[in-house]
Amino acid sequence: LQTWVAPIVLSYLLGAVSFSYLLTRYLKGVDIRDYGSGNAGATNTSRVLGKGPAIIVFLLDALKGMAAVGIGSLLSNGNEIVMMLSGIAAIVGHNWPVFLRFRGGKGIATTVGVMALLVFYAALIAGVFAILFIFITRYVSLGSLIFTCSIPIALLVMGYSDILIWLSLVVALMAVIRHRQNIINLFKGQERKI
Ligand code: G3P
Repeated sequence: LQTWVAPIVLSYLLGAVSFSYLLTRYLKGVDIRDYGSGNAGATNTSRVLGKGPAIIVFLLDALKGMAAVGIGSLLSNGNEIVMMLSGIAAIVGHNWPVFLRFRGGKGIATTVGVMALLVFYAALIAGVFAILFIFITRYVSLGSLIFTCSIPIALLVMGYSDILIWLSLVVALMAVIRHRQNIINLFKGQERKI
């Protein structure tokens, strides 16, 4: 049990450290959640602080996901399911952080970190797709959804285990849930572009 619970709890707490919140709080003295989309993430950091800080937030949030997979690996001797569950715990922590009254981000950068370590080629293919879409449409949210939703498909095609595919579906579902407002805005043609 310890092999499962300890990495999940640790990863959740790590994920709950919100770099977009901390950076905007310390650099500008404001709560990022009062601006733009109200989201505590890299995209909204670009609206509040600009491109450079947004890239830093993206990298730190992705690193959080990688670290969580690393914690899972260390404490379970490389059990893939525990590694994925740790990654999911970090995404949950990022989205619903205990330190910020459970109002956090949408978990995409953290998901990129988790998937890049765990299923590199699937993440690469999904990432290329997503970046292409963002480049063409200028909607980060659409790219985020394409990234998270194409991972389970890529894993299926690449012959990964059922459990990993199911867990990646959970990750995609979380992304869809967190992007509800973005999806509504996209349909209404009111989504913010970058
Ligand atoms: O990863 C978050 C992105 O997909 C959307 O962010 O701030 O435009 O809602 P935002």
